[in-house]
This record gives sequence, structure tokens and C-alpha cells, in this order.
Amino acid sequence: MKILLLGKGGQVGWELQRSLATLGEVVALDFDDPDLCADFSNPAGLAETVRKIAPDVIVNAAAHTAVDKAESEAELVRTINAASPGVLAEEARRLDAWLVHYSTDYVFDGSGERPWREDDATGPLSVYGATKLEGEQLIRQSGCKHLIFRTSWVYGALGGNFAKTMLKLAKERDSLKVIDDQIGAPTGADLLADVTAHAIRMAQRQPEISGLYHLVAAGETSWHGYASFVLDVARRKGVAIKVAADAIQPVPTSAFPTPAKRPHNSRLNTEKLRNTMSLHLPHWQAGVARMLTEILDEKS
Ligand SMILES: NC(=O)c1ccc[n+]([C@@H]2O[C@H](COP(=O)([O-])OP(=O)(O)OC[C@H]3O[C@@H](n4cnc5c(N)ncnc54)[C@H](OP(=O)(O)O)[C@@H]3O)[C@@H](O)[C@H]2O)c1
Repeated sequence: MKILLLGKGGQVGWELQRSLATLGEVVALDFDDPDLCADFSNPAGLAETVRKIAPDVIVNAAAHTAVDKAESEAELVRTINAASPGVLAEEARRLDAWLVHYSTDYVFDGSGERPWREDDATGPLSVYGATKLEGEQLIRQSGCKHLIFRTSWVYGALGGNFAKTMLKLAKERDSLKVIDDQIGAPTGADLLADVTAHAIRMAQRQPEISGLYHLVAAGETSWHGYASFVLDVARRKGVAIKVAADAIQPVPTSAFPTPAKRPHNSRLNTEKLRNTMSLHLPHWQAGVARMLTEILDEKS
């Protein structure tokens, strides 16, 4: 099996390099590859790359993920998050290849408290959410075999993430304010990559699994709950945290105005994925604790 991995340097792309390696030959590209165009602001160049490689599976981990910046560069974001995935889908259809793609809880308006199902009505609040939804729609309309995984609150051990920011601030400050009215599930890039590899294997034998799936870790929390957990684990590991547990103040989203609106309810119902692919999804705390061990031990 030949796999074309795009966006190899992102959080999910990095983990996919590991998880896809045993499936077959992986051609992994970043947007500044010197030989092949993998720049999502250039859909025609991307199409040419797919034709040259002629993969059996395209895995797209590239995206414009700077949610606030996206509000001021909507055209570029639309090209990266919608037009280019649409072109990948057309090329996949011509090759009879699979396209694996990632989307987001931001396609929903965040109302209510019920975990969103795949067929619930969408209502993005931001340019990022709207363009990710458009990308999904173009893939689904293309008629290619596809797996689209909507996920949320992604972290990886590599690069910056929310936990690292909280750890840094908690070492410097006496108190922290953290949003407690957005609810979701922190989901590891490693979990996304492992499920992707499993799904690709399964798709080879059961093409009827083609479709849209919600994929997040089990359980739910707020950003405040997430930060409290991170700092608690760090304290227990002996990290010098200045902020006392009761000095992490819960605040509403309105306390931190941002250019892009975020959904309050980011809960995703993963029943379809678990049933179709016979998967168990671990609780978010397990993955976050593991990531913390990686980043904290790295420094000692
Ligand atoms: N992060 C989250 O919380 C989250 C939540 C829900 C869904 N998702 C989805 O999950 C997928 C993976 O996200 P992630 O967390 O791994 O994001 P990420 O770490 O930001 O990775 C995205 C990758 O795309 C690259 N990229 C940006 N512009 C590009 C362009 N014009 N052409 C080619 N590549 C480009 C980035 O390169 P640079 O780093 O050099 O810009 C980066 O390597 C995306 O589809 C995202 O929408 C993410």
C-alpha cells in the first residue's frame, strides 16, 4: 500500500508518521517540500503531486489551525481548509484511492449540553469552523472513498500546547484565570494517529465504512478542569508550581475576548466510531498524563 501523508510536521502529522509506517510505503510531505508541491494554498500544485505519487491512500493532516488569525484571512483559510481538501478528494476519486481527513467540533454552534452526533445540524461560529465544514462537504460530495474524523482540543507532546502554556504560567504566577464554560475532551494526536491506522486497515477489507466519524477521547472537562488536572499531575511529579490549587480561578469565555467565537458545547458523541470499528476510546486524563510524563521527563 502506498500512502501520501500531507502536513507531516503538525501535531497529528508527526504521530501519523509513526502510526502509518507499518501499513506500507509512506511518502510524507510538508508544505515547503523542495521537490513536490504540498502547499495547500496551491490546489493545482497539490493535484499534480497526487498524480505523480498515485497513492492508494491520502492522509491529510494539513490545515490552517490558527483560529483567531483565520478571521482576518478568510480567503487563504478557505483555500487551505476547503478548496485544497476538495481537490484531494477529486484526485482520490480518479485514482479510486481513500482520502483520510480531519475536521473539528467547531463546525457546530456549541449550543446545549448533549454530545453532538455526526448527523446533527452544523452552525459554525468562526471562519475556521465554516471552512472546515466546507472542506468536509466537498469531500463528501466528490464521491471518493473517505474517512473524515471530527475531533477536538488536540494536543501533542511536540511543539506548543495548552498544558505547556499552563505549566509555564503556573510556575511564574500566584493565580490563574481559566475558562470553565467551554466543555470538550482533550484528545491526543497519538490517539488520532493510532485510530487512523486502524481505520485504514479496516477500510481495505470493508469499504462500506467510508464516512464521517466523531473521534475524541472519552470523558469531558472544561479548560479549567483540564488546567487543574495538568497542574495537579505536575505537582505530584515534583514540579515547582507557584499557583495553589484553589488559586486557579474559573472564569467565563467573556473574560478573554478573542476575534473568533468558540463553541461552549464541544462534546462529540463517538458511538458511531466505537461501534463501527470495535474501538475502545481511553479517558482524556490517561492521554494527558502520558503526554505530561513525556514533556516533564524530557526536561529532567
Ligand atoms: N489542534 C486542534 O485543537 C484541533 C481540533 C480539532 C480538529 N483539528 C484538526 O486536526 C487536524 C490536524 O491538526 P493539528 O492539531 O495537527 O494542527 P497543526 O499542528 O497546526 O498542524 C497543521 C499542519 O498544517 C500545516 N500547514 C499550514 N498551512 C499549510 C499550507 N498552506 N500548506 C500545507 N500545510 C500547511 C502546518 O504547518 P505550520 O505549522 O508550519 O503552519 C502544520 O504542519 C486539522 O485538520 C485540524 O483542523 C485540530
